[in-house]
Amino acid sequence: MKKEIFISKSAIQKRVRELADQISLDYEGKEPILIGILKGSIFFFADLMREIKIPTKMDFMRAASYGSGTQSSGSVKLTKDVDLPVQGRPVIIVEDIVDSGLTLAYITENLKSRDVESLRICALIDKLERRERKVSIDYCGFQVKEGFLVGYGLDCNEEYRYLPEIYVLKK
Ligand code: IMP
Ligand code: MG
Repeated sequence: MKKEIFISKSAIQKRVRELADQISLDYEGKEPILIGILKGSIFFFADLMREIKIPTKMDFMRAASYGSGTQSSGSVKLTKDVDLPVQGRPVIIVEDIVDSGLTLAYITENLKSRDVESLRICALIDKLERRERKVSIDYCGFQVKEGFLVGYGLDCNEEYRYLPEIYVLKK
């Protein structure tokens, strides 16, 4: 498939730093657990965590909502859970991209039921095109209207994750 550059490496880096600065201010004196949603958030997670200037802890969850290709299957299931105890802790979910919102709605409900102290969402990309569930994104990298994005961890059928920039796929 053809692809076009959409967000450059330097633009990503700059925005990640801004998000990290805001999180460092908001969580001063706390030690939030960052929960990355695998696999798409991996590079964003790693860059963000290293730019945050306060102590944080690292954990991961995996949820599957996309069967394959660029269409959502509509159902979400948890295929990997966190290892750390989250009860009574401040938690920040780190997600690559919010599309329909089904994945984050599911994960948010799941974590809230475990009595976390607080729960916020940090998403690199907020894609408005197909939103079905309301999700409040506390820290948002970029808002985009539409398009299927790949690179910087984002995939299409497991391809393109390794690219250091974000591209939009063209038919
Ligand atoms: P949602 O449940 O529809 O919000 O989908 C969220 C998940 O779908 C993201 O975590 C991604 O893994 C995947 N996804 C949605 N849009 C894109 C895209 O444009 N490129 C790559 N993956 C996407
Ligand atoms: Mg994902």
